[in-house]
Amino acid sequence: METDWAIESENLTRAFGDVRAVDDVNLRVRWGSFYGFLGPNGAGKSTTIKMLTGLLEPTSGSMRILGESVRQDQEQLAIKKRIGVVPENLGLFDNLTAREYLTFVGRMYLMPVDTIQQRSEDLLSVLGLQDEHKKLTLEYSHGMKKKLSLAAALLPNPDLLFLDEPFEGVDAVTSRAIRDILSDFVARGSTVFLTSHVLEIVERLCTDVGIIAHGKLIEQGPLDELKQDGSLESLFLQRVGNHEETRVEVSWLKDRAV
Ligand SMILES: Nc1ncnc2c1ncn2[C@@H]1O[C@H](COP(=O)(O)OP(=O)(O)OP(=O)(O)O)[C@@H](O)[C@H]1O
Ligand SMILES: [Mg+2]
Repeated sequence: METDWAIESENLTRAFGDVRAVDDVNLRVRWGSFYGFLGPNGAGKSTTIKMLTGLLEPTSGSMRILGESVRQDQEQLAIKKRIGVVPENLGLFDNLTAREYLTFVGRMYLMPVDTIQQRSEDLLSVLGLQDEHKKLTLEYSHGMKKKLSLAAALLPNPDLLFLDEPFEGVDAVTSRAIRDILSDFVARGSTVFLTSHVLEIVERLCTDVGIIAHGKLIEQGPLDELKQDGSLESLFLQRVGNHEETRVEVSWLKDRAV
């Protein structure tokens, strides 16, 4: 192993004006782990992923990905070739079909055309997109776009996969297919870093979790150790502020004049 960690950040910070969206975050993601990055809306998850994948410059702090320091002044193609990303906005091109898009991505990774074709067929078929020959991405539904973005991230068989909300907006059959693919992927020694609000899925899949709130990483480690005998949901609710797990009511929603 090159280092102890597949992803390591030191005081990683990103400010937008006065708001520190990500605030002194020290991530430690083990090689071969399935790391769930959790937090309420606006906590800083997507901003963290964007910095780790080179889509956004940090305000301060440093990162090591796959044992290599990430520096903003360098292209660092060697690392980029080893990671796959499903970003928040999915990063697709409107005017390409799925096969055209996957071919484009594969060529960017310098993959041979026949490998791209064979892997594309496999991925499109596993994700249920094999019959969408003629549709352009702009004609895709939200869930179809998400699947295509995942196919593109998996295509180069990366060592490390970053997924921002891979289960959001996909149907139950696809969710199951994605879970199976990702479990196999990690079982073969690759590392997954994902964000998700679906705690049941995270609890079933992930080996490690990190919880972020208001830009601060407030908990991180192996899932079993963190949740002890409780559920991930109760750990999450405790850590992000709803200590008593009290029911929240909006009383006027019940008022009905009959
Ligand atoms: N481009 C931007 N300009 C200004 N503020 C931003 C920008 N991107 C994010 N923010 C702010 O940074 C904070 C963190 O946002 P981020 O998108 O990282 O949250 P998140 O944890 O991914 O939330 P969600 O679960 O809703 O996806 C929020 O306060 C958000 O308003
Ligand atoms: Mg987000």
